[in-house]
Amino acid sequence: MDVIFISIFFLGFFLWFLTGISLMYHFIKLCLVDACGLRSLTELDIQENDIDHKSGKWLSCFPENFMSLEVLNFANLDSDVNFVALERLVSRCKSLKVLKVNENITLEQLHRLLVLAPHLRELGTGSLLEELTPRQHSELKSAFNNCKNLNILSGFYEVTSIFLPVLYPACTNLTFLNLSYAALRSDELSNLLIHCPLLQRLWVMDSVEDEGLEAVGSNCPLLEELRVFPASDPFEDEILHGVTETGFLAVSYGCKKLHYVLYFCRQMTNAAVATIVQNCPDFTHFRLCIMNPRQPDYQTGEPMDEAFGAVVKTCTKLRRLAVSGLLTDLTFEYIGKYAKNLETLSVAFAGSSDWGMECVLKGSPKLRKLEIRDCPFGNAALLSSFSKYESMRSLWMSGCKVTMDGCRMLAQEMPRLNVEVIRECGNDGCQADKLYVYRSVAGPRKDAPPFVLTL
Ligand SMILES: *[C@@H]1O[C@H](CO)[C@@H](O)[C@H](O)[C@H]1NC(C)=O
Ligand SMILES: *[C@@H]1O[C@H](CO)[C@@H](O)[C@H](O)[C@H]1NC(C)=O
Ligand SMILES: *[C@@H]1O[C@H](CO)[C@@H](O)[C@H](O)[C@H]1NC(C)=O
Repeated sequence: MDVIFISIFFLGFFLWFLTGISLMYHFIKLCLVDACGLRSLTELDIQENDIDHKSGKWLSCFPENFMSLEVLNFANLDSDVNFVALERLVSRCKSLKVLKVNENITLEQLHRLLVLAPHLRELGTGSLLEELTPRQHSELKSAFNNCKNLNILSGFYEVTSIFLPVLYPACTNLTFLNLSYAALRSDELSNLLIHCPLLQRLWVMDSVEDEGLEAVGSNCPLLEELRVFPASDPFEDEILHGVTETGFLAVSYGCKKLHYVLYFCRQMTNAAVATIVQNCPDFTHFRLCIMNPRQPDYQTGEPMDEAFGAVVKTCTKLRRLAVSGLLTDLTFEYIGKYAKNLETLSVAFAGSSDWGMECVLKGSPKLRKLEIRDCPFGNAALLSSFSKYESMRSLWMSGCKVTMDGCRMLAQEMPRLNVEVIRECGNDGCQADKLYVYRSVAGPRKDAPPFVLTL
């Protein structure tokens, strides 16, 4: 039989919506045992699902003659699994290439899995907190050393410094290192990166600070994608450490192939951004989040308009842009005028008047998705360019100045659009706090919850 690929994500998602049933065990049993046609299932990925199940039994419902699995990902599952069943499954699925386990898998168990599946291409580890005896340490290191095909490493839910050297032998061929859950210090990251000469994608937390990013600049000449996430909630905790323009600059000098960046930082300057895009003019994705809303260039006190002006003027291949910091309408004039290939734009706490949004709607011919929150854009902006919405996939506006009247007018003028307001109050004069507009050939959706008003 041909390989049957089912996306459990998709089916699981569907079941979730249809019936609220979330019992993984019954679901998988149904797929594998009752409908035996799915014996050649190759991919089981439940990463994106919110599964509330009470036991790890689901792993034991794979029949003994089931051997076709190539991808097994239960990284986000919030419970213990039946390890004996997992071990048996991994040992008989000889073509398993991707294995991403959850936090509950211990280091010792990880070791046993690696010995059974040295051919893995992608590994997501469990928790890496336990103390290892010197013997366990060297055994685990040698298990990693045998993983000659490993390209992608993620997981690292909790990690201690002592553990990291175990990974070094497996770093040689890594192209993607995903440390987005591991609050590494700069020295820990530098020591790791020395062993990763082929890295193309790197996700880290801002706990690595600028020094960690300087190590990225000096060790990762092939880097194409960098994402730096905040280690603590920027809106709740005081931002003490984190990264600044210094780290980003260092990466841009060392990594000439960089074209995708997501960067949460404490501070930024116009001059730094202009230099960064000079160094790396091929950005397709530029998502810069200065974590204090409306923060100006901290050196000059000026708005950050020229920074994003430099991005859209220099990076002609730009497809996705997220802007932040203190921004006037000038930023949006630049975007409308220069961002000819822009498809997705995210805006928060920016702009001075309706003119800003109007510039984007009138310019940027390839714009598909526009998401705006907490900006002074109102009905005049929303209604300034009806035909633009025909070519766009969606518009999201929250915390802006559009009113129910404005939304109704848009719905009347453009009957083929779905105009949805997520309601806080029903009067026409009041603000439409959250607006979602999208094109659909199917008409209004039938499953909207009661607080969604379809106009
Ligand atoms: C393992 O799963 C249980 C739930 O079954 C959870 O309470 C526990 O915290 C998890 N242990 C680890 C080490 O993640
Ligand atoms: C890296 O990959 C090459 C071939 O692609 C292989 O020969 C080598 O053993 C790998 N090295 C490690 C440490 O995995
Ligand atoms: C990176 O790792 C985190 C945590 O394990 C995970 O949620 C995320 O999906 C991973 N990203 C990719 C692209 O694999």
